[in-house]
Amino acid sequence: MTRPTTEHSARYRDALADGRLHSPTFERNAGPVIDGLAPYLTGLSGHALEIGSGPGRHVCAFARAFPGLAWTPSDPDPVHRKSIAAWAAHEAAPVAAPLDLDAAGDWAARGDVAALAPLRLVIAMNVIHIAPFAVAEGLVAGAGRALAPGGYLAFYGPFRENGAHTGDGNRIFDARLRADNADWGLRDTAEITGAARTAGLETTALLAMPANNRILLFRKS
Ligand SMILES: C[S@@+](CC[C@H](N)C(=O)[O-])C[C@H]1O[C@@H](n2cnc3c(N)ncnc32)[C@H](O)[C@@H]1O
Repeated sequence: MTRPTTEHSARYRDALADGRLHSPTFERNAGPVIDGLAPYLTGLSGHALEIGSGPGRHVCAFARAFPGLAWTPSDPDPVHRKSIAAWAAHEAAPVAAPLDLDAAGDWAARGDVAALAPLRLVIAMNVIHIAPFAVAEGLVAGAGRALAPGGYLAFYGPFRENGAHTGDGNRIFDARLRADNADWGLRDTAEITGAARTAGLETTALLAMPANNRILLFRKS
């Protein structure tokens, strides 16, 4: 079980009185991520589950951008769950109460996830490099089980490609992550693609995002 909750909460300082945490990256990455996903998600209906929602700003923006999907956020960190619920209330966003979900576990078998399944979308932003590889593996395996045929699994964040960093910024970030925690670090698109193939998910898109980030999108066969 991987619950590095205090390490993560410490990254988002300055909670407002109602528990809303500031998201340092939301303003610059939410728009490009929504634009990148729009060709795939526009008009879709069904349930969407976000894993590792963090402060919770993205899920509110996603719910506005893709209103046909019913959005459920999640995070193992109680401080983050409080922030997610507070942002949803503040913005009157149509977002369900956040689940306490550890992606390294057998989360697709949980009753609260099964009640939403089969899912149209599972999305994880900036999660799998700030967690042990077991979280990436659990996330992909669970998505393979919980997604509907034709449903999507989307990752956003920095990746290595073919064993190499895509820029100096990511190389430095990777070294910093590994110094913080030897089990963390940028994942290679090839290792995620391989795990996805095993889980019955085919690679649909690798989208370049600002600041050398990527959207890695898979579709259940
Ligand atoms: C860097 S934050 C990203 C938050 C948000 N998605 C964003 O992009 O701003 C990583 C998030 O992953 C969550 N997390 C860490 N370990 C996890 C696990 N085992 N399962 C699910 N989420 C996890 C943390 O609590 C944290 O909220």
